[in-house]
Amino acid sequence: MSPSRVRVSALDRTIGLLKEPPASPDASAGYLDLLGPAAEPPPSLAQSMMRSTFLPRIYERVWRPVGFNLAKGWPLGPDTAAEQATARDWLGLAQPADTAKPSATVLDVACGPGNVTRALAAGVGEGGLVVGLDASETMLARAVAARNGSGDGEVCYVRGNAVDLPFRDGTFDAVCCFGALYMFDDPWGALDGMVRVLRPGGRLIILTSRRPVALPVSRLTGEVLRRAAGFTVFGDREVTNALTSRGLTAVRQHRYPLMQLVAGTRQPPAKHP
Ligand SMILES: C[S@@+](CC[C@H](N)C(=O)[O-])C[C@H]1O[C@@H](n2cnc3c(N)ncnc32)[C@H](O)[C@@H]1O
Repeated sequence: MSPSRVRVSALDRTIGLLKEPPASPDASAGYLDLLGPAAEPPPSLAQSMMRSTFLPRIYERVWRPVGFNLAKGWPLGPDTAAEQATARDWLGLAQPADTAKPSATVLDVACGPGNVTRALAAGVGEGGLVVGLDASETMLARAVAARNGSGDGEVCYVRGNAVDLPFRDGTFDAVCCFGALYMFDDPWGALDGMVRVLRPGGRLIILTSRRPVALPVSRLTGEVLRRAAGFTVFGDREVTNALTSRGLTAVRQHRYPLMQLVAGTRQPPAKHP
């Protein structure tokens, strides 16, 4: 094989995207572990559940479809397949049946058991790479076990902190964060990081919670949820405004009863005449 045809593994490619590549990378569990045994304890009830051994087992088949589909207004809202098709579309990726697919580099923030990561991998072509990042060892173990046959693009999983993304600036063509922004202890810091790692012209998509009405009782319930379970319920314009204030353009939103899908594009470089 000529040197130009030597295949660089998804792991090596992912290590090449890091701000501070570890001297001795630990991928013994099938994912690149950047947290190690010294990882901090989960800061909330919601996070503890995600790191348990039980929830990851039922997450993809039961918890995710039932919980998310109800929150999206089942049977009127989009089901999981429609949600994933919209994610690929809004991120500028291809659909699984398309013959031409971009060789994009994509980040799936808080990938859980890799359900969305695999759906994104089905929208990138040869040479593409989808990196799924999560803090939970139990979720990542499921993601690694289900990795085979993800799609055309390669997949690599990383154990890391979504609120302090370990990647270099402007690394990804697309960033996706589904079902997790409401769980982060610092959602706006996490959002800053997602925008930072996006290349100019790259696209970001977020599926998160939505407070349907601005009534005081609704705010109060949201505050109780945040304090008791570490679950933030975002206002109707809160996430779109956060994207706009970070310089994203073409910001769009789909509203569901208790969730929202929000996307935007990082400003492309200015063209000089
Ligand atoms: C509800 S799951 C979402 C999984 C998948 N993205 C989906 O849409 O179904 C939320 C995930 O966020 C992860 N998570 C929460 N806080 C995190 C953090 N600070 N850093 C990395 N992952 C985090 C949890 O471990 C969990 O796997």
